[in-house]
Amino acid sequence: MTRGELKYEGKAKRVYATPHPHEYVVEYKDDATAFNAQKRGEWAGKGATNNAITAHLYPQLEAAGIPTHFLEKLSEREQRVKAVTIVPVEVIVRNTAAGSFSKRLGIEEGTPLSRPVVEYCYKSDALGDPLINTDTAVALGWATAEDLTRIRELALQVRDFLVPYFAARGVNLIDFKLEFGKLPGGEIVLADEISPDTCRFWDAETGEKLDKDRFRRDLGGEAEAYAEMLRRVTRPA
Ligand SMILES: Nc1ncnc2c1ncn2[C@@H]1O[C@H](COP(=O)(O)OP(=O)(O)OP(=O)(O)O)[C@@H](O)[C@H]1O
Ligand SMILES: [Mg+2]
Repeated sequence: MTRGELKYEGKAKRVYATPHPHEYVVEYKDDATAFNAQKRGEWAGKGATNNAITAHLYPQLEAAGIPTHFLEKLSEREQRVKAVTIVPVEVIVRNTAAGSFSKRLGIEEGTPLSRPVVEYCYKSDALGDPLINTDTAVALGWATAEDLTRIRELALQVRDFLVPYFAARGVNLIDFKLEFGKLPGGEIVLADEISPDTCRFWDAETGEKLDKDRFRRDLGGEAEAYAEMLRRVTRPA
C-alpha cells in the first residue's frame, strides 16, 4: 500500500492519505507522552505493540457488532483504516476509580464503581482535554444528540466485550478512552486505538499496573508491561 501525504501527526501516531480517498494508513510511533505532552519519552517496540494489540481487538469488536474503522494490519507499525471525521470528544469508560476521576472526586484509586461511568472530554491539546457533558458537545456543534446517544451505546458495548475478554486473561480493565468518527454516509464507528496507552490494565492477581501509568508515574518497566499485555491479549482465553 503506497502511503500518500501525511495528513496528521499526533503524539503517538501518524496518519497518511492513500490512493483510495476513503482510506488512511495509520503508523504507530515509539513516542510516549503524558500530562498533555509535558512529559515525553519513547521505547523500542511501543508502536509495534500498540499496533498489534489494536489490530487483534478491533476485528473481534466488529464480530461482536461494533462498527470500527479498522481494515487490516499492514506491517509491524502500520494499519489500514477507513478515513473518518473524528468527533472531537474523547469518551472515557470507567469501571473502577482511578486517575483524574479519583483526583477530581477524592475517591481512592481502586474503588470499584457500582455501575460503569461514561465521561466526555473535549479533544483539545491546547486546553488539556477538559471534561464536558453531552449538552456542551451538542451546543457547540461537535456532534448531534443522536450521534452522542449512539456513541454512548457503542462505548458500553465495547466495555461489555472487553471486561470479560481481559478478565479471562488475568487483567482487570479499570478504565479506557475511545474515539469515534463519522463515515461519509454518517455512520458512527469506533476509531483510533485500544492499547496500554488508552486503557488502565491491572493484573487481576497482583494489582500490578500493565499500562501507560508505568511511564506517567515513573514506575519503570513500561516496555515489559506493554509486551506482557500483547501476550495476554493474543492468548486464547
Ligand atoms: N480513522 C481515522 N480517520 C481519521 N483520523 C483518525 C482516525 N483514527 C484516528 N484518527 C486521529 O489520528 C490521530 C492519531 O494520532 P495520535 O493518537 O498520535 O494523536 P494524539 O497525539 O493523541 O492527539 P489527538 O489529541 O489529536 O488525539 C488522532 O488525532 C486521532 O483522532
Ligand atoms: Mg491519541
